[in-house]
Amino acid sequence: MIKYSDYLHLDTLLNAQHAESEKHGAPAHDELLFIITHQTFELWFKQVLFEVGSVIEELNRPYVEEWRVGTCLSRIQRVNTIMEHLVNQFGLIETMTPGDFMDFRAFLNPASGFQSAQWRILERTLGLPEVKRVLKNYAEALPPNEQEKLADSTKGPTLFSVIESWLEKMPFMETESYAFWEEYRKAVQAMLQNDRDEVIRLAEADNNDPADALRQIDLNESGFLSLFDSEQYNELLEKGSRKMSQRATISALFISTYRDYPLLQVPYRLLDAVIELDQRVSQWRFRHTMMVTRMIGMRIGTGGSSGHEYLMQTTLRQRIFDDLTSLSSFMIPRSATPHLPTEISSRLQFVNEFK
Ligand code: HEM
Repeated sequence: MIKYSDYLHLDTLLNAQHAESEKHGAPAHDELLFIITHQTFELWFKQVLFEVGSVIEELNRPYVEEWRVGTCLSRIQRVNTIMEHLVNQFGLIETMTPGDFMDFRAFLNPASGFQSAQWRILERTLGLPEVKRVLKNYAEALPPNEQEKLADSTKGPTLFSVIESWLEKMPFMETESYAFWEEYRKAVQAMLQNDRDEVIRLAEADNNDPADALRQIDLNESGFLSLFDSEQYNELLEKGSRKMSQRATISALFISTYRDYPLLQVPYRLLDAVIELDQRVSQWRFRHTMMVTRMIGMRIGTGGSSGHEYLMQTTLRQRIFDDLTSLSSFMIPRSATPHLPTEISSRLQFVNEFK
């Protein structure tokens, strides 16, 4: 009969903490906490990679059935809960004072988080584009066998690419006589015209110059229009200001706009969960940066980076799903949302009740 300790391989797990300070004959009390915290982070990274990998597998197919989207949603939500837990876990390491850390930091040199293969694989699996990386030669920090694993992780699709292709395949956006983007564009322009009229009315009443406010509305409008104009959109893709294809982005906008329809609720929640995941990864980066600053101030890292400065840059620049996050700047209120033609709306609900 299998025993608890055998099932969990506790013998291996509980004998895998070897303090460098002890080996150097200067045992430091806090090193066990330091080791166990890192080990538990790595274990959770393993779980996150497992869940994200399974989501990629579910979505990477020519036709994605509805039930699969629900499965993906619950797995991404699980990943988000793990990431939230990991962000809080930095509080554990902060029970060690900077002075106590100094007792053993020198013994770790040159080991560094730069050498976390799982973290690098996770960044790639999520779809972090190489151009956004602050550190370009990050793979070189890894030993050869881990460099290989990292290279393998780039061969398959990423979470970003499967979400993009799933969105591109979304039906419902057009019929022979209807195109969602045309109707949406008109609704947006009508809404912005109302805003202009209101600005002018208020300026006249208060005897103010409306020029600045009108310029801001013009700017919003050109941002909106670039989403619907293929030429402008392609320029944004080339410049790197957008990464997701135009079709996928408009599809995400459609799902967000008509999220109340039963058939779009789960897809909408999946998009929301992916946006949350991107935020959780940034929160992880930010929390790690704050903790590092508290522990080592402005010192350089054991991996040779500038420390605080480098980590803060990764927090600010390395977002993956910002195309989806920024969609809220293109949202319009329910009252201004164009009605869907019946032939589409009837397919988006379980019971055909709004004829
Ligand atoms: C006292 C605690 C810690 C300090 C002082 C610290 C410091 C640093 C520094 C300075 C870097 C930049 C690379 C370098 O020059 O070494 C770094 C990177 C990193 N650390 Fe930590 N760290 C600590 C705890 C942790 C923990 C608990 C984890 C969890 C696994 C972790 C994971 C990472 C990862 C994944 C990177 C690479 C980040 C990137 O390049 O985007 N660190 N750390």
